[in-house]
Amino acid sequence: MELEGRIALVTGAAKRIGRTIALELARLGCDVAVHCHASHEDAAATAEKIRQLGRQATVLSADLKDPQATESLAKQTVDALGGLNILINNASIFESMKLEEFSLPKWNETLAVNMTAPMVLSHAAYPHLRARPTGHIVNLLDISAKRPWSSYLSYCASKAGLSNLTLGLAKAMAPEVLVNGVAPGAALSPENYSKDEIKAVTRHIPAMRWGTPENVASAVRFLVTGASYMTGTILNVDGGRSIAW
Ligand SMILES: NC(=O)c1ccc[n+]([C@@H]2O[C@H](COP(=O)([O-])OP(=O)(O)OC[C@H]3O[C@@H](n4cnc5c(N)ncnc54)[C@H](OP(=O)(O)O)[C@@H]3O)[C@@H](O)[C@H]2O)c1
Repeated sequence: MELEGRIALVTGAAKRIGRTIALELARLGCDVAVHCHASHEDAAATAEKIRQLGRQATVLSADLKDPQATESLAKQTVDALGGLNILINNASIFESMKLEEFSLPKWNETLAVNMTAPMVLSHAAYPHLRARPTGHIVNLLDISAKRPWSSYLSYCASKAGLSNLTLGLAKAMAPEVLVNGVAPGAALSPENYSKDEIKAVTRHIPAMRWGTPENVASAVRFLVTGASYMTGTILNVDGGRSIAW
């Protein structure tokens, strides 16, 4: 197994895309810290599945709006699993905010979870990630970071900030830690999307279908296994959507 003996921390790993990434890393040989906020039962189920794959797992709970709780995730991972080699900043708030819906507390919450928490956690993880072998950070971005939707102002701004931070940290942490991003298009619809909303999005995708969490996880897998000469790179996983707007 390519990542035998490595230790990964995946934020927002209880369900959906984060869970798929955590399981993929376990299949590659990683022990995994499964971070969650509200989804405790789902996180326990993800951790159990990782143990069934023969790897160690621990569940860590933190509200990423709280910088102290966020920072402590790095040390908790090391204490529970013995190190930290791979950090996946996946957790995110995806909430609509049109101009007329602007609220400063909501804006601050989205930026706190989507942009500030990855910085706080990357900083706390850095001393561990820089130990041999080469450490990895992969940030989950969004193609809307480059072409924002006017109905998701805070989300798109947060992902644009995180995209820039990905490049900045790639320079700051070189050469010991490789920092890259994966920018999905439409990978997995929010739980409250109607069939009509899903169809409307599909019309803008050259591949003529939504992607899958596995499509996203395979890009993460490439970055942490086969991409030893890539840092500061952002991979679009979008079925061509970003060239079709
Ligand atoms: N889904 C897509 O098609 C798509 C498209 C483009 C980009 N992306 C990006 O890919 C990543 C995964 O997408 P997803 O749709 O699977 O994400 P998601 O379901 O919207 O959110 C992932 C997790 O983030 C956690 N989270 C939210 N607020 C938090 C807080 N205050 N503190 C700690 N954790 C918090 C939640 O954990 P709990 O459930 O434990 O509370 C949630 O399960 C995200 O970064 C997203 O922006 C996804």
